[in-house]
Amino acid sequence: MQDVVAWLTAHGNLKIIDEPLDVELEIPHVAYIEVKKPDSRPLLFTQPINRAKGITYEMPVLMNIFANKSLTEEIFGKHPDAVAEGIEELLKLKPPKALIDKIKMIPKLFSLKNVFPKRLKFRGECQEVIIPKAEVDLDRLPILKTWEEDGGAFITMGQVYTQSLDGSMQNLGMYRLQQYDKNRLGMHWQIHKDASHFFDQYQRAGKKMPISVAIGGDPLYIWCGQAPMPHGMFEMLLYGFVRNQNAQLVKSITNEIYIPRDVDIVIEGFVDPTLTEIEGPFGDHTGYYTLKEPFPVMEVETITMKKSPVFAATVVGKPPLEDKYMGWATERVFLPMLKPMAPDLIDYNMPENGVFHNLIMAKMKTLYKGHAMQFMHAFWGVGQMSFVKHALFVGEDAPKLEESEALTEHILDRLSPERVFITKGIVDHLDHSSSEQFVGGKLGVDATGDEIAEGVAVPLEDSKLFEKVHKCYRDVVALKQYFSQTKNPLCVIMVEKQESMANLMDKLAPLHAHIKVAIIVERANNELDNPYMLLWRVVNNIDASRDVRLSPYIMVDATNKGALDGFSREWPGDTFCTKSVLDDLQAKGLIDIEEAFVKKFGLLPFE
Ligand SMILES: Cc1cc2nc3c(=O)[nH]c(=O)nc-3n(C[C@H](O)[C@H](O)[C@H](O)COP(=O)(O)O)c2cc1C
Repeated sequence: MQDVVAWLTAHGNLKIIDEPLDVELEIPHVAYIEVKKPDSRPLLFTQPINRAKGITYEMPVLMNIFANKSLTEEIFGKHPDAVAEGIEELLKLKPPKALIDKIKMIPKLFSLKNVFPKRLKFRGECQEVIIPKAEVDLDRLPILKTWEEDGGAFITMGQVYTQSLDGSMQNLGMYRLQQYDKNRLGMHWQIHKDASHFFDQYQRAGKKMPISVAIGGDPLYIWCGQAPMPHGMFEMLLYGFVRNQNAQLVKSITNEIYIPRDVDIVIEGFVDPTLTEIEGPFGDHTGYYTLKEPFPVMEVETITMKKSPVFAATVVGKPPLEDKYMGWATERVFLPMLKPMAPDLIDYNMPENGVFHNLIMAKMKTLYKGHAMQFMHAFWGVGQMSFVKHALFVGEDAPKLEESEALTEHILDRLSPERVFITKGIVDHLDHSSSEQFVGGKLGVDATGDEIAEGVAVPLEDSKLFEKVHKCYRDVVALKQYFSQTKNPLCVIMVEKQESMANLMDKLAPLHAHIKVAIIVERANNELDNPYMLLWRVVNNIDASRDVRLSPYIMVDATNKGALDGFSREWPGDTFCTKSVLDDLQAKGLIDIEEAFVKKFGLLPFE
């Protein structure tokens, strides 16, 4: 990471902050604000401290390594599309027929030898310093507490290396780790993830599970940790493929797990499968807190590190965040891997304000009736794509998927209740909207067809429509229509929620001459003029199997759910910055934000 810091200083516009700043809230808040700027920069905090614990840390904290698209591309050493092209070529590899084809194939096959990680026999730079068990103290690491209501401090960019019980499979996953005390960490591997599957094997066998958590090194390790590789494929293969250079691994000191030789810090230990501890709450990348839940606990055996390590960390919360750029690269690289199951897929896009799994837009060539539905099922059935809640499919004639305004118009001109398809499936571990954890509604829109014939029969201006809606239902406080030029304007209705929105939907039904799509949101912490955050809120908050009506027109209840709705799970709160911390950072000139910025990204609760 020292090399990365030098490289970022020379090429990546690194901002160095020498002011002593607290790992609790201050450093995370500065990084959170920075990554939301259009020209965001990586940040190095050279003097992290913890005032409450009276600690001055010996190592700096590096954040926003994936601060923007161009930096992400630099980390890859090529555009992620170029990686995708290489993967596509590999997937299409056919046995050569003529001698000339054989000769042409040699360089490709030769480069494949670089894909496989190399296991070295000697110790790595990451093992220059070895801290024995008796001296292990996680307080030596500048572990961040991002949000006021977080259950504690969390390692947010830990590369978690694990292996299957029989040692035949190795895995790298990026999972957050809660620091409980000097030598114990909470392992937040979610139920659908590979390390959790390995854990099940150890649990069944009644054996302790070895784990090595690495921090730092080549930033591409970090990206590989979050890449949704198929189960059983070690992410370091992808590393070797992208770098065209084998990952060089060394054995951990106290277990058989191999980690990259050049990471900055390695925390080795094991999980006793009979023990769990409450993990969280934690302000997550959904922009909501994930609630307390029991997770396995890692007991640390040793910590090894380089002589001058750098501590890599990220901050998650409401979009846009660093995962926007990591996610962009993932989306590009994994396109060819989706094609074998959806061969007529042209492209897909997961906007960051849909927090990735909450919204996907896909472009395809349709060859037969139901083709888009077939692809929706394929997506909902495979790997981490199955977490997707809302899938909108368009045909070849649609605008580019990144042209969000034009694409939305295209979809709305093709939308009708008959083209909306609702089913159920598994949902992301973090999803808070489904009535039951892990299983919830899925909504697909087949907008691959022609424009629909009829738009709104009697369109009304916002003020006139508000009068009508308010007459039907007194708790409506405001209304705004988006995309009125299309066949299906989006009518966003803001309410002061006093009861289940089923009643509002019943009362709105007679207004079908004026409304074709109604989306209900609450007044608290929403702004009708902020479509970016409205989209974020709506796709987060709905479970289509419960919250969407298709008759007499499309109605969506995107309010928070609770006892009024017969919803028995706890509904989590938004991640908000701490005002006093923002004020302090602003006074010190460490951030420079205006009221409009605070509102735009929902940094503070609305008054
Ligand atoms: C910043 C960040 C934090 C993440 N935190 C977690 C986490 O705490 N738990 C988890 O299961 N997945 C987390 N993920 C997602 C996983 O890294 C991702 O699903 C990865 O593909 C899992 O690898 P696996 O399939 O090998 O288990 C996180 C991703 C990012 C970008």
